[in-house]
Amino acid sequence: MKVLGIETSCDETAAAVVGEDATILSNLVFSQLDEHRPYGGVVPEIAARSHLDRLDGLIRGALAEAKLGFTDLDGIAATAGPGLIGGVFVGVMTAKAMAAARGLPFIAVNHLEGHALTARLTGELAFPFLLLLVSGGHCQLAVVEGVGAYRHLGGTIDDAVGECFDKTAKLLDLGYPGGPAVEAAARGGDPARFGLPRPMMGRATLDFSFSGLKTAVRHKVAALAAPLAERDVRDMAASFQAAVADVLAERCERALVHFQDSHGQAGPLVVAGGVAANAFLRARLEAVAKAAGTEMIAPPPKLCTDNAAMIAWAGLERLRLGLTDDFGFAPRPRWPLEEVRGP
Ligand code: KG4
Ligand code: ZN
Repeated sequence: MKVLGIETSCDETAAAVVGEDATILSNLVFSQLDEHRPYGGVVPEIAARSHLDRLDGLIRGALAEAKLGFTDLDGIAATAGPGLIGGVFVGVMTAKAMAAARGLPFIAVNHLEGHALTARLTGELAFPFLLLLVSGGHCQLAVVEGVGAYRHLGGTIDDAVGECFDKTAKLLDLGYPGGPAVEAAARGGDPARFGLPRPMMGRATLDFSFSGLKTAVRHKVAALAAPLAERDVRDMAASFQAAVADVLAERCERALVHFQDSHGQAGPLVVAGGVAANAFLRARLEAVAKAAGTEMIAPPPKLCTDNAAMIAWAGLERLRLGLTDDFGFAPRPRWPLEEVRGP
């Protein structure tokens, strides 16, 4: 079984082919970074037009690299939400048109399910598992019972973690995108210099809040002499990252206890989404999982950030369970993981 996957929900245009034995036959990602950089963030209209310009070439490239033609495929999957709707439409319409022309099944993939199932593409991983999904638009804890079977445990009540990284980078003049830049700047910085808050920590819920942390960074930066000295930038990045790590670690500790109570097993803890590419956070969550008697599993960094291999893989997982979609499927700008259909 081989599935072509398409990803166009944000600022990456991507196409990939994966095989049933969890092999990635091709995985092409075109980042629109340069097009959005002048605006300091993703401009939805520019993103949608850019997807339209590039997607067909990427699909051709992904098939060529996999040495496959349309007749070798068993299905075509595309991100059908959540995301910037103009871009999602481009991917979904392209997938539907190809599926219709070639008589192939179409699979509407939830972008979050793509992130959630990636660890099953990159290694042996059975259901159930505890999922921490941390990306530019999302931050949530869920129990993953199977394909299309997600139970929400908690989520952010305001900003997503990735967004917070991006805002912090902007305040520190580190450019866009912020996550990798903050991680690099934090190396060698003093994580204790700026006493930043750890919102919601210690509360008996599994929810998150990051807006207070973001505001605290803004106030502390404003109180420093401008332009910021390199030392200030490093210390602020390290202080910010340490605050995020403390919050995520404490929430995961709590969630692992909950998972143990409900499932009679310690874990594993799967960390997914763009922020999971952060080595400092990975190391911290690995320690948390180890202390709880289980392991932390995160895809290689390249497959944490948006890509189409994860969409092709989620499509393949769905296809083999008979979960295909008809051409009437309407793209969804909002589509919580818990509403994904299962077998
Ligand atoms: O999953 P993703 O590629 O797109 C969404 O679905 O949102 O996640 C993008 C987010 C951005 O906010 C980016 O700054 C963040 O992931 N990110 C990181 C790192 N790499 C990407 N955050 C922290 N450390 C990183 N190394
Ligand atoms: Zn994503």
